[in-house]
This record gives sequence, structure tokens and C-alpha cells, in this order.
Amino acid sequence: MPQRHIPQSKTTHADTPNKTRRAKADESTATFTFTVNGSSHTLSIDPRTTLLDALREHLHLTGTKKGCDHGQCGACTVHVNGRRVNSCLCFAAACDGDTITTIEGIGEVEALHPLQAAFVECDGYQCGYCTAGQLMSAVALLDEPIGPSDNDVREAMSGNLCRCGAYQNIVSAIQSVRATKPSSK
Ligand code: FES
Ligand code: FES
Repeated sequence: MPQRHIPQSKTTHADTPNKTRRAKADESTATFTFTVNGSSHTLSIDPRTTLLDALREHLHLTGTKKGCDHGQCGACTVHVNGRRVNSCLCFAAACDGDTITTIEGIGEVEALHPLQAAFVECDGYQCGYCTAGQLMSAVALLDEPIGPSDNDVREAMSGNLCRCGAYQNIVSAIQSVRATKPSSK
């Protein structure tokens, strides 16, 4: 049984220190603005809304999946200011002024991100439910200071669970892209 684990390099947005928050909240609504996949959005929503629900329910970006909704599976992984986070653990209003990237923002059908192409090539998924989160973690991982081995990749990806058990092929896909990026740390 996989342990509950969020790797060191994967943090919740609440960890960001000394961040000025401009969200204005009354008893029932928080109004804030953030950039999602290059487009600015202003939302006035319940301040308890998670970033995951804001993306899916208010911006209709349903590529980001809800698995456990408790920070355990990584299906909801997105990037906030370039860092991978579990969006189910972030309040959307706390992302005021931030830059968010979701799976819809990293590639297109006609122009896949190299990792998306590698997942296809290496058969890195089965049902696909975890795949968006796996890809968002993997994209961030390319610029993180992790070691070169398969075990290093497994550790760095250990916050992303796959109930189909496609782990070995996911590692192969990631390593195939890392091998083409000599500048990766
Ligand atoms: S849905 Fe966020 S970690 Fe599982
Ligand atoms: S491919 Fe099915 S959960 Fe990962």
C-alpha cells in the first residue's frame, strides 16, 4: 500500500512565505484575479473554494482531476508560479495575483509537450485518470534538482499515485525526455 507522501520538492501553496494577499473577502465571497494558462480571470466565489474546484467548476478546465481531494493522490497537480502543487489543498483566493498552469496549458493535440508524446510512446497510462497530474509533476520535475536514476524519479514522483500501476512506463517516459535535456539538473 503506497504511503501517504508528498516529496520535498512538492509543496502546498500555503508554504509561500511573506506573500501579499490582495483578495477581498466578505462573509460569503472572495474576489481575486489570477492568470490561468496565459489568460487573466477574476472570480468572486466562496472563499473556501479550493483551487481545484475553481479550475474545474468555475473555469471549466476539467483536465485537472479530483481523486482523493485530500492531498494524497496527486491527480489534481497543477503549477502555481512554476511550482507543482496539489490544487485540492490550495484555496483559490490565496492564489490572487498568481500564475497557474494546468494540463490544458502545456501542449495541444497537434503539438504535444515532449512528455505527453513520451507517455504515448512508452504506454505510460491505462485509464488515464491520474495522467494529467502525472504529467504536471513530470514537467515540473524536469527543472528540479533530482538525481539521474530511475529511483530518483520514482521518489520525485511518489506523490502521484496510479491505481492502474503504470509506474514503470511513466518512469521510462520521464527518463526518455530527461535524456534529451542535458541542461536538466
Ligand atoms: S485530489 Fe488532490 S491530491 Fe488527490
Ligand atoms: S492510468 Fe489509471 S490511474 Fe493511472
